[in-house]
This record gives sequence, C-alpha cells and structure tokens, in this order.
Amino acid sequence: MALTDTKFREDDRSLDQTLRPKSWDEYIGQELIKKNLKILIQAAQERGEPIEHLLFYGPPGLGKTTLAHLISRELNAQVKVTSGPAIEKVGDLASILTNLSAGDILFIDEAHRLNKLIEEILYPALESRSLDIVIGKGPSARTIQLELPPFTLIAATTRIALLSSPLRSRFSGGTYRLDFYTEDEIRKIITRSAKILGIDIDEGATAEIAKRSRFTPRVANRLLKRCRDFAQVEKSNLITGDLALKTLDLLEIDPVGLESTDRMILEAIISKFGGGPVGLQTLAAATSEEKETIEEVYEPYLMRSGFVERTPRGRVATRRAYEHLGRNFAEQSTFLA
Ligand code: ADE
Repeated sequence: MALTDTKFREDDRSLDQTLRPKSWDEYIGQELIKKNLKILIQAAQERGEPIEHLLFYGPPGLGKTTLAHLISRELNAQVKVTSGPAIEKVGDLASILTNLSAGDILFIDEAHRLNKLIEEILYPALESRSLDIVIGKGPSARTIQLELPPFTLIAATTRIALLSSPLRSRFSGGTYRLDFYTEDEIRKIITRSAKILGIDIDEGATAEIAKRSRFTPRVANRLLKRCRDFAQVEKSNLITGDLALKTLDLLEIDPVGLESTDRMILEAIISKFGGGPVGLQTLAAATSEEKETIEEVYEPYLMRSGFVERTPRGRVATRRAYEHLGRNFAEQSTFLA
C-alpha cells in the first residue's frame, strides 16, 4: 500500500484535523489557486450569494479536502462531507440534498466514483437547485420537484477524465488542478507541522524528509510522524538528519521518494516487458496491484519524476528508471531513443 493511498486516510483523520491549515496564510503552496479562490469568495460575499460550484482535481494527498474545509471556514459555512462511493442510491443523494441549509457546502470526495444515475440527479440540483424525484413505476409514475436551498458543491477527484462532461461543465466557479508542491514548500509544511506537534527537528532532517516526500504534504506529514516514533524509541528528543535517514531507509523509501511498490512497478516494466510499452491492465496483472491504484496513486509521481512515460501503446520505463535501478539502458527494446 502506498503512503498516499486513501486506505491510510482513516488513521490520518486526527492528524489531518490538527495539521490542517485554518487560514489562507497558513496554507502553503498552490498560490495561483489560492489567489483565484480568494477573489471568488470575496466577490460572492460582497454580493451576498453562495460561491459557485467548484471542482478540485489532482493526485492524492495534495490538499483538495483541506482546501474545501478552508473555504468553508472562510465563508463561515457548514460543510457536509461525503464521497462518490458512499452515495449508492438515488435516495442517499436526495436525503443529503434535502438536509442542506442555505449557504452550506457539500463536499463530495472521489467524485469520479459517483454512479451515472446519481450524476443525472445532481445536474438539475447544481444548475437550478431543484431535485426531481420519480415516485412510483410505470404509467402511474410521477415526478415531484423539490426546491433546494442555495448551496455550493465542492467536488474532488483524482481522475477528472472519468467525470462525464455534463457534470464537469456544471462547476461554474471553476475547475482547479492541484499540482505537486516544490521542495521548498514541503520543507515549510514540515516545519509548520513539527511546531504544531511539538517535535524538535533540525534542518538536515527537514530537508531529507522533504526530498523523499513525493512533493506531497500528506506523505511529508506521515514521514515526520514516523521519524518522531523512531526518535522516541531511540530516546532522542531531536530529529536529526541522521535519524531521519535511518527512519526512511527502514521504511524502504529511497533518496528520490520511491517506495518498494514504485520500484516493483519499474522493475516489472523493465524485466518483464523489455522496458515497455506495456498496457496498464497487463502491468497491473504482472505486479498484482489494482489498475486504478497504479494509475491514481503510483503513476502520477513516477511520471512527474521522469521514471515512466505514457505513450499511446502503453507505459514505458525511461532511461532515468534504468539508471535509478542500476540497470543498463541498452537492454531495453527499441521503443525509446
Ligand atoms: N498540511 C497539509 N497541506 C498543507 C498545506 N498546503 N499548507 C500547510 N499545511 C499543510
């Protein structure tokens, strides 16, 4: 399981609560998105209207949920949190929507996992704040229309391509892509988190964690906590660079932030498929990972760091991947020059 995997998130809840930035000033990075959202919020507030619906997308762990909470805080609005897979039936959505109050924010995580029937009910709810419910079946079926209070939907997804275009087009407040953070931003996030958690950490350790955190705040915060555990067991009250290195090595996180599964994926592309191209389905079968997990969790960072390229014929390991694993690039089949 990857450090960014959503399966980890349950354990992370309390951590997220304490470390979650409570104001724009505390939120580090994503500067352009922040600027846009601040304007959107101020303008809507001046008009006395709720903000328009927003869509956040990007790899896991970059702060989509955090942003939604921050916006609610700025607006003094209540936020109701749910997720695509949690809304199974039309009735689930109807119940969520009819329980909203004016000005509420509805946050739907993993929006790409909403089923099509639910999406279709969502369209009129977003566009004209009306909920069309069909009662009964066959010739006696009739539709009743409920009016909903003014509310804002904030949806988040790691896979924007899976959202239907009618749904995508209804986020009139904008669609925002969160990108990986810079190393400098991650260092600032680690320093801030350490302060909140009462952890003493030196600059060397901060830099080492930042380098191996996949430019992802959730990973950085988790690694910081693992270093704290290690320091505590070693009876040390300062996390030094040396201690951070030992912790990260124990976790099998290498100097560029790859975990064992990342390396296994690269190894499979190289050893089993001559460096690629290999289709996602085949790669998933060869590594015993789920296709979705490879695509949503591992691949974004492998591509961003230049280890994997996506081509129309499949995934390809780059020269950098060969070199990183100590393999000879000349071994590869002829696809990449
Ligand atoms: N913790 C998680 N994400 C953060 C961010 N962007 N800024 C500050 N702290 C964070």
